[in-house]
Order: sequence, then C-alpha cells, then structure tokens
Amino acid sequence: MDAVVTTGAETRTAQTVAGASGGHARRHDILPMPDLTFTPEVDAETRHLYERVAHIIPPVEWPFHAPYVAAINRLKKVRDAVILAHSYQTPEIYNCVADVVGDSLQLARLATKVPAKVIIQGGVHFMAETSKLLNPEKTVLIPDLKAGCSLASSITGADIRLLRQRYPGVPVVAYVNTSADVKAEVDICCTSSNAVHVVESLGVDRVIFVPDQYLAKYVASHTKVKIIAWHGACEVHERFTGEELRRYREADPSIRIIAHPECPPDVIAEADFTGSTAGMIDYAKAQRGGKVLLVTECSMADNVAATARDVEFVRPCNLCPHMKRITLPKILDSLLYMQHEVEIEPELAARARQSVERMINLKN
Ligand code: 13P
Ligand code: SF4
Repeated sequence: MDAVVTTGAETRTAQTVAGASGGHARRHDILPMPDLTFTPEVDAETRHLYERVAHIIPPVEWPFHAPYVAAINRLKKVRDAVILAHSYQTPEIYNCVADVVGDSLQLARLATKVPAKVIIQGGVHFMAETSKLLNPEKTVLIPDLKAGCSLASSITGADIRLLRQRYPGVPVVAYVNTSADVKAEVDICCTSSNAVHVVESLGVDRVIFVPDQYLAKYVASHTKVKIIAWHGACEVHERFTGEELRRYREADPSIRIIAHPECPPDVIAEADFTGSTAGMIDYAKAQRGGKVLLVTECSMADNVAATARDVEFVRPCNLCPHMKRITLPKILDSLLYMQHEVEIEPELAARARQSVERMINLKN
C-alpha cells in the first residue's frame, strides 16, 4: 500500500504494508472486492440516492454508479469511515456517498466533530493534509495520490524561508491551498472567506501573502495593509475572463454573476458577489426564481442545483483535473485496501497545525 509522508523537505510517496501515523505503525486488513453487478436489490437500495442526482445523471448511466454507491455506503460502516467531499466533487460522490460536504475549511473543521476513526478525503491533497493536521489521531485516506493543486504546488517551505530573509519581520499569511510543509513555515493560514480578516488581525502595515496572486489582489483591494504577493494561480479560475462574463450579461442583464476570489481581477470586477465556495452556494440558493452564473469549477453548479431546484444555473465549464481524479472506484479501493494514508511528521505537523489553529481561533 502507498502512503504519503510529508517531511520538512518535501512530500514523497512511500511503499508500505502498514500505514504509520505519528510514528505508530497501523495495520489494516484488506477486504474482498464486492460484486459490482447492477441487480434489482442494488437498484432498490440506491433509488432514493439516484433521485438526488436525476437532474444531472441520465438513467442510462446510473447502473454504472449504483453498485459502487451501494458497496461504498456498506463498507463505510465496516471501516468506521466518513467521506468528506468538497463542492467540486462529481455529483455521484457529493450527493450519494459523502457524509460531510463543504468548502475546504468547513470539511476539516466538521471532520473533528464526527466520531468515525477513518476519514476519506473527497478532494485534493492539501485538504487531506489539513484534515490530518486537525485530526491527528484519525486515519486519513486520499483515494488518488496525484490529486494535487496548482496553487499548493507553486510554493515550498524553502520558498517561505527565502521570503522571510528578503522581508525580515514581515508576517506571512498562507492560503489553506498549501502543503503542510508551507503551513509549518508561516504565521497564520487563511481561507477565501476570511483572508481580509486574517490579514487585518495581524495589526501590521505589510504582510506577505502566499501563494495565490489573485486572492492577494482581492485582499489588497479590501484593505489598507500592503500585500506582498507570491505568483501562484489556480489553473481553473485563472482561465475565466471578464470579457466572457460581459457577453453572458449582455445576453441576459438579470443574471447574477458569482465568482470565487481565485479569479483574476477583471472577472471579480464583473461579479455581483465574490466569496468562498460555501459563500457562493449560500448566495446562489438565495436567488430563488433567478438565473445565476457560477464562475468556478463546474461540478459545483451540478451539486448546488440538486438542492436549489428553483434557481437556473449557467455553467461556463472549467473542470479541476485534480478534483476529478477522485472517483467512485478509487473511493471503493480506499475502503478495501485502506489506501492512501496521509501522514505528516509529528514535528512538522505541530508547526503546521499552529498556523491553521491560529486562524480557526481568530475572533470574528
Ligand atoms: P474553498 O475553500 O472556497 O472551498 O476553495 C477551495 C478551492 O480549491 C477553490 O478552488
Ligand atoms: Fe487547486 Fe484550483 Fe483545483 Fe481548487 S480548483 S484544487 S485551487 S487547482
């Protein structure tokens, strides 16, 4: 079985037969592969779940998903596992097997409130690491080790040490879309929903803000604090343009445009609302009878549409290739083989956890 070990120097993949967490070896039994035939029993067992996604998954496709959905939901009980799914996960994951859904921070925080021993991260690697940081005693699994993030891979802990040399005494704020290696080097983390608040909470006139250049610009436009930015970008959100949004608005001036702050400034300038994925969902759901354009990863509109049937969604579709690495068959494999366990060296984890907890403990 593979495990991911984050050390101070790098994140590496190691072959192991037993996951180790905090230095304690842990062995897991391998479970037999279940029958994945679409039988009348599986149909009956999953019918209520299909109703949640019938607006987006055609009936002809359901027989491929249903045996996995049934098997995963049964095996979660055997393994005492919960599945945390980010809003960018596909509808069959988000609506049919997830126990907890939300934005990246909500997922990690809610995970600390569920009693299960095992967390399966329906999301990308930095999210699984954050779950592990906040739940060190739990086994955290990510179904695909290659589920990365262009923001998280744009910067390392060594880069932060160089920034500190260049700007002595200037505090460093890291977006949660970073590795534990980076979180261990910074003063505090932030999310897309609290970035301005976190920056202003430091009470200084300059901060280094990593790694998203566009979130940094968004923060700079909402505060007097001078922002020294890194040059990272989200490969999904940077593809949107203000020009394409103007065309949508010309076609229907009543449309509400909702953007994630990882988008470039000309996109944010066209938006009626800018916020984290959770903030975008709340705003979209409030537009009853209206038409909204979600400027973000395209699975999110599919997932929100399941619970906001009275809102019409327009989806300029950009997919996150990393999020899409997580699939039902890989989640099933995670449960069968307890793969791939996310581990963080205890000393590094302690420092990284501090940066996340400083943010969580900030008063509003
Ligand atoms: P949220 O924290 O808003 O869920 O964003 C995470 C992410 O990866 C957006 O691209
Ligand atoms: Fe990273 Fe962008 Fe994918 Fe979010 S959508 S995981 S920021 S690459």
